[in-house]
Amino acid sequence: MQDRNLFISAMRNVATPVTIVTTNGATGSHGATVSAMCSLSADPASLLICLNRQSRILAMIEENGAFCVNVIAEGQDDVAMAFAGAPRTTPRKFTTPDWNQENPNALPVLRNAAATFQCAYKKTQSFGSHQIIVGTVLDTTASDHAPLVYHQGGFCTLPRERS
Ligand SMILES: Cc1cc2nc3c(=O)[nH]c(=O)nc-3n(C[C@H](O)[C@H](O)[C@H](O)COP(=O)(O)O)c2cc1C
Repeated sequence: MQDRNLFISAMRNVATPVTIVTTNGATGSHGATVSAMCSLSADPASLLICLNRQSRILAMIEENGAFCVNVIAEGQDDVAMAFAGAPRTTPRKFTTPDWNQENPNALPVLRNAAATFQCAYKKTQSFGSHQIIVGTVLDTTASDHAPLVYHQGGFCTLPRERS
């Protein structure tokens, strides 16, 4: 079996997106910073996110039946940090002008994000400490703003030049 620390160390070299996953509905609204997100299928358009079993947003997504994955753009580091970490009792609000909730599920959608994906919750698959959440995409936005990436424990911007 792979050594846990070596696994974590090697994973620090993997660049990931930085997203804020939001939800709204019967249990109220909430958001959490999530880097474990990827495309699942184009037919149907769907994606997955991985959430720690301890995260509050997990049960809320399942109950609300909808969520939005907001892919953070350059300059939105502060928004990402506002939706991560302790204190776990602090409610995370969507009162700033950064957020638009004018959509059928009133999901908090981040203005000027690199991309956003409003999703219908489909299923949860358990593995280890995490739960894999699958959603089918109801609506998307895509902008010219470059995404922020997470690498070696910090936020990075992408080089302008493409190889
Ligand atoms: C850059 C970054 C990426 C993160 N990625 C994830 C992730 O993929 N899955 C996860 O469960 N938590 C992730 N977290 C931790 C959650 O944001 C954090 O535990 C948050 O407090 C969960 O909120 P909740 O318990 O209110 O749902 C990440 C945190 C940061 C700063």
